[in-house]
Amino acid sequence: MRFSIAALALPVAAQAANYSGSLRPQVQFSPPYGFMNDPNGLFYDAKRDLYHLYYQWNPYELVAGNQHWGHATSQDLYHWTNHPAAISPSNPDEYIFSGSAVIDGNNTSGFFPGQDDGVVAIYTVDTAEAQTQNIAYSTDGGYTFTKYAHNPIININSTEFRDPQVTWQPETKQWLMTLAYAADKVIGFYTSPNLRDWTHASNFTRQNLPGDQFECPNLVKFAVDTEGSKHVLFISVNPGAPLGGSGTYYLVGDFNGTHFNPDTSDPTLYEFSKDNYASQWYTDLSAQSSPISIGWASNWDYAEEVPTGELEGWRSAMSVPRHHTLTKVKGAWTVTRTPFHDLSSVKSSPLRNRNHPDGVTASFANVSSKAIHFEIDIEGIDAANPVGDINFNFTSPAGDHLDGGVVLDTGLFWLDRAGTHLYTVANSTDFTPLSNTSISVSQGRFAFSGVIDRSVLEVFLENGTQSATVTYFPTAPLDRLAVGTSGLGHGTRVGLAAWGLDSGWYDASRSE
Ligand code: FRU
Repeated sequence: MRFSIAALALPVAAQAANYSGSLRPQVQFSPPYGFMNDPNGLFYDAKRDLYHLYYQWNPYELVAGNQHWGHATSQDLYHWTNHPAAISPSNPDEYIFSGSAVIDGNNTSGFFPGQDDGVVAIYTVDTAEAQTQNIAYSTDGGYTFTKYAHNPIININSTEFRDPQVTWQPETKQWLMTLAYAADKVIGFYTSPNLRDWTHASNFTRQNLPGDQFECPNLVKFAVDTEGSKHVLFISVNPGAPLGGSGTYYLVGDFNGTHFNPDTSDPTLYEFSKDNYASQWYTDLSAQSSPISIGWASNWDYAEEVPTGELEGWRSAMSVPRHHTLTKVKGAWTVTRTPFHDLSSVKSSPLRNRNHPDGVTASFANVSSKAIHFEIDIEGIDAANPVGDINFNFTSPAGDHLDGGVVLDTGLFWLDRAGTHLYTVANSTDFTPLSNTSISVSQGRFAFSGVIDRSVLEVFLENGTQSATVTYFPTAPLDRLAVGTSGLGHGTRVGLAAWGLDSGWYDASRSE
């Protein structure tokens, strides 16, 4: 269904942002109000030391539709300032779909005479007739954009052709666009000297990937010690991802300026849970920075139904910003992920642990954000004969519980959101409670860390080589972590450390 903006007639900036709701993440970004999905146009402005985040935004409703590019900025990716929508539809029949943004420092586009910090946004315009690729330029650092007079820049008369990600290729001195022929399950590469004129370079496909459509591809260059650099192609698939609904895969390989050649034919599933989709990767980072991404912490299976809509007037948060490396794990290139700067700009004092008959507990009832970072280390495991279980439970005084654990005997890590009662599999059969993955204890130790933030849990296992993002909806905020053990082998020790996190919102309504 298409919505008429004029008919809805709600002024975009009319509603005050309220970040105090008990389901509102305090460390992950969420929109001031309305419905949010993919991150868009992530770029870093080195001149002003500022990260920009745009996002798919319906400012009028709590479901997808009326897509605009919402906008926020941050100096540390945790403290955000909201701004008015950066790109809006020109008429009620078009939507501004996902895309990317770059700084055109050399004015290749000609939009920025005498300027070295012009910003070009590259995005899909969705209409009933076609999805076309379009550009808009900003002379004020990415706050306001002028649509190019000769849009679209690419039109192949397809209704399933979208999500351009543009990066500068220093080797070929060309811009590269990576985008999806969504229903064909094909990724296209185009090149351009000036962001206006584009030449098709090649196509890449993996028809055997699960899922009906390819969306939001990102080709990301990683520096690696041994081989100089490698490229990783991230492909989001929806619907029909292996855990249901939407999910993301990646393939590691080489890009020669026109063609992507993967090292292996087997793509890797990025996460072992349902709630991380359409990650985008920052452009214009300094050469020293490792790649940084932000993903959409939800799933198309239930994103438009979750209770934050009715209760608090917003739907969907982003993942924490993540730092990445590409590392060989058992001979295979693996993308690692950890929270950006180890959350240092929001991490406050350590929580005190107490011994309790159930195990070790850390209360965060006095942490006003109700967001914490935690690390759990299991050491002294008999690698030849690992035995025993470690369980961790986040609980609320109202009787909600979000649970997880490690089964050493079988090498299994699991998470279960069934005990958070505001929204469960009874509300949506797609809101499946369990996520799990295989882990290795062959080195005699296993460690993981995580961020829990009111309605989103993210965990990072085995030096960030595996991760999960799980949304959950308790009737009251979870405010206590208990770690218990049973049947551990002699000499196995479990350590817990946890820190309160400060809210990333300086005040409840930091909006322009
Ligand atoms: C992915 C997606 C994109 C599209 C956008 C529309 O979540 O479907 O393919 O550009 O969302 O909001």
